[in-house]
Amino acid sequence: MGNHQSLISFAQLKHTLIILMADNAKIILEGNEYELPVFTGSEGEKAIDISDLRAKTGYITLDIGYKNTGATTSGITFLDGEEGILRHRGYSIEDLAAKASFLEVAYLLLNGELPTRQQFDDFDNAIREHTLVNEGLEGMFKAFPTGSHPMGQLNSMISALGLFYPKSLNPNRPEDAINRTVLRLLAKMPTICAMIYKKRSGHPIIYPKNNLDYVSNYLNMTFAQVTMDHYQPDPVIVDAMNKLLILHADHEQNCSASTVRMVGSSQSNLYSSIAAGIAALWGPLHGGANQEVLEMLELIRQDGGDVQKWVNKAKDKNDNFRLMGFGHRVYKNFDPRAKIIKKTCDDVLNKLGVHDPVLEIAKKLEETALTDPYFVERKLYPNVDFYSGIIYRAIGFPTDFFTVLFALGRLPGWISQWQEMRREKQPIARPRQIYTGEVPRNFKFMQDR
Ligand code: ACO
Repeated sequence: MGNHQSLISFAQLKHTLIILMADNAKIILEGNEYELPVFTGSEGEKAIDISDLRAKTGYITLDIGYKNTGATTSGITFLDGEEGILRHRGYSIEDLAAKASFLEVAYLLLNGELPTRQQFDDFDNAIREHTLVNEGLEGMFKAFPTGSHPMGQLNSMISALGLFYPKSLNPNRPEDAINRTVLRLLAKMPTICAMIYKKRSGHPIIYPKNNLDYVSNYLNMTFAQVTMDHYQPDPVIVDAMNKLLILHADHEQNCSASTVRMVGSSQSNLYSSIAAGIAALWGPLHGGANQEVLEMLELIRQDGGDVQKWVNKAKDKNDNFRLMGFGHRVYKNFDPRAKIIKKTCDDVLNKLGVHDPVLEIAKKLEETALTDPYFVERKLYPNVDFYSGIIYRAIGFPTDFFTVLFALGRLPGWISQWQEMRREKQPIARPRQIYTGEVPRNFKFMQDR
């Protein structure tokens, strides 16, 4: 290997042998044997701790896209992609979606336990106290070009929000000061999301009504008009929104949560870390998929609804088209959130009396793909984004607003991940690389090139 850095790609073990034993792993590299500790999680998940590997052997590990890399230990969310299990702080997503409110789940994620009645009331009241945003923030909207994407606006607004609280730019303040920032973010995010919605429609913003619960307040700020005497969100919609927010609340070390942790690891403040998470979520391979799914379903409908044609396109390696809302990095059996959302979608559309032709197309697409060997062999199933957009559309949200709703739900998860990273005083995240560029060469003056 000479002076070059060495690597182990766990996907392609060649001259390397790893033996996993009870408490440690033995690794044989170039004939030498090394011992590495094995870490076992509370659900029996096992990891080889390679933090000393380079110091001991000169090797690093190579895992592009972090497909098999544990970037942290975490006590927030457990996910078993093979079995389709998702639990927050030990509680199943099925139970939480059926029995809890979004704010209860937010409390659980942040504090590790479900709140007592008193704890919940204190938390809820504290959030209600902070729902207003500084009027100065409204000026930001003047700068956005007409029709600019809501996720770009949300990203900028959350970043700007932090500037109104200069003390909060220091993440090393006492715990109660950090908690105030957490409450502010949870309280102001719905107000900002609703402001974006109103400003894009050219309508006056609606101020928060703090006698309303979190979800109803958000719906009121979004769908009420200043010209209305009274607006009462439909309980079916409140219930559906509550469920959708819970289903998006956290998902362990996904792209946006890892981004929040990575940005936060440089001791960047919570607002900018969350803004970075929003940027990561926006991408169509992550949260942006919910917008893409609905656009895809519409396209298929307008094209005559030939589902098989689009499944064939998704299978064609010379065609860039993918079935949006299908496949997941970790779920290789089914996405438990998608199961709940599919049922919620049927319930909500029935109760609201909405007939959306794209729901039929979505169901046909799912049926066709799930019996197609291409999707079966690759373990590609509908993910959380496949049916959520149909519900959002039935509620009245425009397609390019869907990812904002994902961000609203994911906020407590991002904050919990940031808090865990900060409380554990984790080091700055700084991956290594294997350099594959030019070896040293001599500079030539321009006239000699
Ligand atoms: N349509 C068609 N083929 C697919 C799809 C899809 N939606 N997803 C994966 N594949 C194929 C790939 O082409 C690849 O095939 P190959 O082995 O023949 O090369 C194989 O399945 C594995 O796919 P990868 O892209 O390597 O899997 P990865 O784990 O990197 O990506 C991802 C996961 C990004 C979610 C992918 O499945 C995808 O692009 N899905 C569509 C976008 C989407 O719905 N994203 C939302 C995910 S959920 C969330 O973030 C909230």
